[in-house]
Amino acid sequence: MPQPAPDFAARLIAWHADHGRHDLPWQNTHDPYRIWLSEIMLQQTQVDTVVPYYRRFLARCPDIATLAAADSGTVMALWSGLGYYARARNLHACAQRLVADHGGAFPATAEAIATLPGIGRSTAAAIAAFAFGERTAILDGNVKRVLCRAFGIDGFPGQAAVERKLWALAEALLPHADVATYIQAQMDLGATLCTRGTPHCTRCPLATCCVAHATGRTAALPTPRPRKALPLRRITALVIRHRDAVLLLKRPPNGIWGGLLSLPELTPDTAPAAWLAELLEAAPAQPLPPLRHTFTHFMLDIEPRLLTLEARPADAPSAATWQPLATLDAVGLPAPVRRILVALQPAPGASKPR
Ligand code: ADE
Repeated sequence: MPQPAPDFAARLIAWHADHGRHDLPWQNTHDPYRIWLSEIMLQQTQVDTVVPYYRRFLARCPDIATLAAADSGTVMALWSGLGYYARARNLHACAQRLVADHGGAFPATAEAIATLPGIGRSTAAAIAAFAFGERTAILDGNVKRVLCRAFGIDGFPGQAAVERKLWALAEALLPHADVATYIQAQMDLGATLCTRGTPHCTRCPLATCCVAHATGRTAALPTPRPRKALPLRRITALVIRHRDAVLLLKRPPNGIWGGLLSLPELTPDTAPAAWLAELLEAAPAQPLPPLRHTFTHFMLDIEPRLLTLEARPADAPSAATWQPLATLDAVGLPAPVRRILVALQPAPGASKPR
């Protein structure tokens, strides 16, 4: 294993004082609820995107008890547009677990926090360090990138053997004091200087001890995920419109867009439900512009079709919602579905369809 540079943490902590981020809305608090919420939102989403969602979520659910008691539609609506919806389902489940089993509060160690729904080892460590001052290492995507470059570690960091090596290194590098500052410094360095595309090595406090910088390998490290071509799925999404409302169906809790409202879909290899087949025979469907959405494991081509009805079908599923186009913000929708429907909203000041 590469040897830890003796002043690695000290360099980061000193850099953070002048160049780190100090005023993000989840900083300057020891409230584990606020810290947890930010860490979950930030797992797959950039700071600038997260900030307005974070503020809106906290305004509606300011504490664990309120979140635990909220209905799942409210939680999904607050998350709608952030993607990776399992995060929202786990967040809700975790708040309910905290109320049921932990007196409505977070346990105070990373080890105990890591047993809760949706909280992995690194996120648990970040919560424990920021909220309770525990001396514990994190290893998120940013930190993996910094360590792979600084210590010249080859191999895709998601691979178990590489990840084990990185955890050992992260623990060996932990300072004895100022752990929360050190952790924030690692996150900030990874997000602002040691970025994936074009790292800003001239301003980096680690440049003089960084193996990748010394050997011209910043572009090659971390080793990218071995790439398989993503499979392509194709669906037709039906925008069934009656006057100013569209028909939405709640998706099953698991799988893509689990728990969100979405458009009825047709897939190439399944027959449409009888009520849909009937509608499609009766009314011409107008093609809308197609969209492509990339998921982690596949790409989805969506071909939307607009069906404008004179009357609501009597045999639509009883769980169908007729959602007014003017109030899309109130419901949790997958981002591409929202894009399709927003394009149909009347321009402000336009007269209502009959
Ligand atoms: N990414 C993950 N956690 C973060 C934090 N606390 N501050 C900024 N970016 C982050």
